Amino acid sequence: MEAQYDFGMIGIGVMGSNLLLNISDHGYAVIGFDIKPERGRALEAAAKPGTTVKGVSDLKEMISGLKKPRKMMMLVPAGKPVDDVIANALPYLEEGDILIDGGNSYFKDTLRRVNELQNKSIHFFGMGISGGELGARLGPSMMPGGDKDAYQYLKPILEAIAAKFDNTPCVAYMGNGAAGHYVKMVHNGIEYAMMQMISEVYDLLHRAAGYNNPALHKIFAKWNEGELQSYLIEITAEIFKTKDSETDKFLVDVILDQAGSKGTGKWTSQEAMDLPVAIPTIDMAVAMRDLSVYKKERTEAGKLYAPDIEKVEYKEEELLLQLQDTLYFCFAMAYVQGLTMLSKASEVLNLQTHLPDVVKVWRAGCIIRSAMLQQFNTAFEAAPDLSNLLLDDTIAAIIKQKEKSIRKIISLGIASKIPMAGISSALAYFDAYCSERMPTNLIQAQRDFFGAHTYQRIDKTGVFHTEWHVDENI
Ligand code: 6PG
Repeated sequence: MEAQYDFGMIGIGVMGSNLLLNISDHGYAVIGFDIKPERGRALEAAAKPGTTVKGVSDLKEMISGLKKPRKMMMLVPAGKPVDDVIANALPYLEEGDILIDGGNSYFKDTLRRVNELQNKSIHFFGMGISGGELGARLGPSMMPGGDKDAYQYLKPILEAIAAKFDNTPCVAYMGNGAAGHYVKMVHNGIEYAMMQMISEVYDLLHRAAGYNNPALHKIFAKWNEGELQSYLIEITAEIFKTKDSETDKFLVDVILDQAGSKGTGKWTSQEAMDLPVAIPTIDMAVAMRDLSVYKKERTEAGKLYAPDIEKVEYKEEELLLQLQDTLYFCFAMAYVQGLTMLSKASEVLNLQTHLPDVVKVWRAGCIIRSAMLQQFNTAFEAAPDLSNLLLDDTIAAIIKQKEKSIRKIISLGIASKIPMAGISSALAYFDAYCSERMPTNLIQAQRDFFGAHTYQRIDKTGVFHTEWHVDENI
């Protein structure tokens, strides 16, 4: 086949074809490969008149149809399928070709693949794509990482198809090696945390304060018009007004309370512990999904420890304002923890990730997009090397305003036996981060007491050990 296509896609399920159609809408000739020929036909049928879109079921045909340097992406499930695609494509790939993995691959797998293909002078990119199926068609947020020089060939195409925030494309080079998949992993960790804390606010409003779904819809829809404006608040409002098609109930009420997960949240926690860096709110979100799975035991325990609690009194308007502040505070802590992790990871793993670019890319198109990120962007513009956004004066002023509310809401949650694991962890992180002196001096003393692990002193340098003993006379 004559090399006439600008971009190729391996795997043209819904995500793959939507992304490819998005590329073709911007004037690029595209070709998609799938072992199922009907997918190729469906792709061609969905193309807009005047665009060049081809579907094939022969991988060699797809690759040889691409202009050089050949640019192609695979959108297949993470794990073995990615290695299988690479092995199948390898005989047809040449020096200088660029292959992107657009799935949610584990970054260590990506790093291995980058190195293996680098030996063959093939550029392998790990690219996080966020925004779901619709985002892929209309404008996703994209987080590519890999060889910096090769990125220049991808840049025009990716910038054309990306979501835009004030005309700025939500895509940027995230760094070398597996930086793209690393940033997407952390994006998902933040996603887990935000979802968990929204669910806790729902729990308090629903079970403790007795709001029904139509009322919850109104509350979240109103929040979405203010400082909490974000994709997750927006879809939450929509969920509360969606009816079940099989019963006359609201759909949310018939959905089983056991959360699934595909691993990216867990990886974020695992990697944070390896760095090490503290992201307790993301850890807690993962733990709560895990606990949700133990439905049978929870049901038994619920009966055994049936609460004997008096109904908590609250003023409606005050409660809603406090909850709005609480969510703002909590979202900020989730972003702060994720971004702090990225800053540390970039240093330890030499990813060369530029945090201001990460924030820019997350402002539109992705699941964690929110109005708040624009404030973070302003903070980074003023101080690009800021190690933690909480140290910015403007952010500090906003956070201080919200602090009282979250303390009140947590007390209300505790008094009502509504678990607030995510929300409480966000406040605990903040309180610890703001403590010049933490109680870890005592932990050091204990470690030295039972294990001679030594400690440092505040008044002189060096490493010390004390022969501690238990006073038998006390
Ligand atoms: C996105 C999402 C997406 C992710 C899902 C599922 O940015 O579009 O992060 O990539 O796969 O959210 O994640 P879990 O199944 O682990 O909840």
